[in-house]
Amino acid sequence: MIDEPKLRQLLEAGTSGTLQQHVPQGRPPGSAPFRGPVHVFSSLDSTNSRARELAAAGAPEGTVVVAHVQTAGRGRQGRGWMSEPGKNLLMSLLLRPGIPPEFLGIISLYASVSVAAVVEKITGGSAGCKWPNDVMVAGRKICGILSESALTPEGVGAVILGIGLNVNQETFPGLPDTGATSLRLETGADHDLAGVLCSLIGELADRYGSVTRRDSGRIIDEWTRRSVILGSGVRVDRGGTIIAGTALGVAPNGALRIGTPDGVVDVVAGEVHIA
Ligand code: BTN
Repeated sequence: MIDEPKLRQLLEAGTSGTLQQHVPQGRPPGSAPFRGPVHVFSSLDSTNSRARELAAAGAPEGTVVVAHVQTAGRGRQGRGWMSEPGKNLLMSLLLRPGIPPEFLGIISLYASVSVAAVVEKITGGSAGCKWPNDVMVAGRKICGILSESALTPEGVGAVILGIGLNVNQETFPGLPDTGATSLRLETGADHDLAGVLCSLIGELADRYGSVTRRDSGRIIDEWTRRSVILGSGVRVDRGGTIIAGTALGVAPNGALRIGTPDGVVDVVAGEVHIA
């Protein structure tokens, strides 16, 4: 559990500092999986890059890195991630799930349904999930997720879950009007970054057992309920090869199942476009 008032002080002042997460009294051991430190930085190149360095240095599972501003925020497919200073949640969470590499796809779905749950609680409306891990509100992207993993001969050593959730930003220069939204735009009010972060960590912690037990049913159900692509015609760019067909569902390992004229194809990575 994160000391929310202390986190708020750091985030509102835009200063750097570290907090320790603690297990609340009365909770059975093992029920609060994230106990690592929360590192808050006034400025960083990328929270994912810093979390990777911390992971390589042996940081514990549950370590959180948050930045007021990123100077080289990274998006999927080699893109960048822009965010006005102090307006949005820019964070990375270090996981050590002990799962085999073929199960990694479920981590993306796990992250997106956790974010979607937070967005729905705050906006009172519904959030959509676009494979693999975008979270949308009424067709506009509110959150991007960059999941990066370190593989060892024993399996997945560490996963860095990088989450950029648009909270108080009102304009998104360079994107079409229909491209992006934020909690502020959806609710007409500003939201406290510390509160949003704590509630997101809570949602992630709540579902993490499904990941470590490799019991993806709950996550897939939640994702399917919110999917904005299932049943639609899609085109997936798989490193230059285009797969076109109908999005049928997700496989137990998180792959997108597409019905094509040549049969059903499971896609584990790529960029989906609704046809
Ligand atoms: C996407 O392309 O949709 C993924 C964007 C992920 C952005 C977040 S912001 C926090 C974390 N640090 C990064 O450099 N990227 C992720």
